[in-house]
Amino acid sequence: MLPRRIRSLLFAPAVRPDLVRKMPATGADAIVIDLEDATPPDAKETGREELRAAVVDIAGTIPILARINDASTPWFHDDLDSLPEGLDALVVPKLETVGGLDALQRGLEARGLDLPVVGGIETALGVADARALLTHPVVAAAYFGAEDFIADMGGVRTTSNHEVTVARSHVAVAGRLAEIPMLDMITANFQDDERCRRECDEARELGYHGKLCIHPAQVTIANEAFTPSTEEIERAHRILAAYEDGKARGIASIAFEGRMVDEPVAVQARRVILLAED
Ligand code: COA
Ligand code: MG
Repeated sequence: MLPRRIRSLLFAPAVRPDLVRKMPATGADAIVIDLEDATPPDAKETGREELRAAVVDIAGTIPILARINDASTPWFHDDLDSLPEGLDALVVPKLETVGGLDALQRGLEARGLDLPVVGGIETALGVADARALLTHPVVAAAYFGAEDFIADMGGVRTTSNHEVTVARSHVAVAGRLAEIPMLDMITANFQDDERCRRECDEARELGYHGKLCIHPAQVTIANEAFTPSTEEIERAHRILAAYEDGKARGIASIAFEGRMVDEPVAVQARRVILLAED
């Protein structure tokens, strides 16, 4: 089962058992042992063996997900065949077609695997068809993958994130319509805490619920960023008090600390309070 909230989803390559053993102590809400991009083509079988060994060692300490290779690769079926007991969910990258998701669903059912799927939207086709993909019943949560998306686009990845603004927002909208938890892209510069924090804030502003992480330092940043601050909670209470007071006086649009507060602002404030109580 997926945890109810995933603020931080930490990745490590299956072929790095040293890193994988350190993951439970990072404070991540869940972890992903990666058989895809972080495991080289000639080491896929080693990765599967390491995955099995890791799950034996750390099961029960933290929710564990495995990322497999997508259905268009030669590794997909062997990955599915080799999955150990004790996984909480599966990460499937590069979702592109509803037919592919149907095949994934059949592949899971045929093997008796009852695992929620966290799907990756990280190609031009995936982004274009995100709504159809994310509303598929097999998909329980999803992430936006910026690096693969820009690679597929033939674009250039920059620190400004301008090149991913539209896709990142579009995928968040699709996730909202599917009513599933949405996770934002990784920050590849794992030593740039300031960038990671900024990207977490942007993601939350867009409606994402958490972030993919590649380094323990990013886990701390994401957990904090996706939890409302005391200041934010207090402000939300003050907004609601002022708004309710206005409504009691027959006014639904009031002035609060120099800005207009009306129903949509109250909705946002209520969400902050709900998130804080969660
Ligand atoms: N999970 C658990 N622990 C990790 C970790 C991870 N993903 N990444 C780093 N650490 C540990 C290191 O082992 C080190 O531990 P130590 O203090 O006991 O020595 C500590 O955190 C600090 O690491 P640091 O030295 O800053 O980084 P590094 O050079 O060892 O590793 C990377 C940098 C990028 C190679 C590594 O973070 C990594 O492989 N991340 C995951 C990449 C991945 O899975 N990509 C695919 C998904 S997009
Ligand atoms: Mg990738």
